[in-house]
Amino acid sequence: MALMQWDESMSVGVEELDMQHQKLIDLINEAYAGIQMHDEHIMTDLIVKMRDYANLHFSTEEGYLKKYNYPNFEEHKFHHVKFNTVVDGFQKKQFEKTNLSQIFLFLSRWLATHIMEEDKQYVRYMPKPEAAVDQESQS
Ligand SMILES: [Fe+2]
Repeated sequence: MALMQWDESMSVGVEELDMQHQKLIDLINEAYAGIQMHDEHIMTDLIVKMRDYANLHFSTEEGYLKKYNYPNFEEHKFHHVKFNTVVDGFQKKQFEKTNLSQIFLFLSRWLATHIMEEDKQYVRYMPKPEAAVDQESQS
C-alpha cells in the first residue's frame, strides 16, 4: 500500500493544481517503494519524473499566480527555482552520492514546507470554486 495519500487538507482550492500536487505524492510513494525494495535503480527514472513534474506544475502554478496578481509571486517563483537546482544536483550525483532516501526526504519536506505552507499562502488570491460563487450570488 502507498505510504501517503492526498487529502483535502492539502488542497489549494484549484482543481488543476491539486491534481498536479497529487503527482508529487505519487513520486514520494515511488521513492518510498524503491527504498523498501532496495531498488536504487528506479532513481534515474524518478529524477526524470521530478523534472517533468517541475516543468509542468511550476509553469501552471506560476500562470495562476500571475493571472490573479499574487503579491509574493517573485518569492514563490524563487522557491520553484530552488527545487530545480536540487533536482539538478541529484541528477549530477546520481551515480555516486545520491540515494533514494535523500530524494524521499527532499520530496517529503517539499510537501510539508512548500505545498502545505508556501502554496497555502496563495489560496485566498485564487477564484472561489464555482459552487461557492453560485451560493453567494443566490444569497
Ligand atoms: Fe508552488
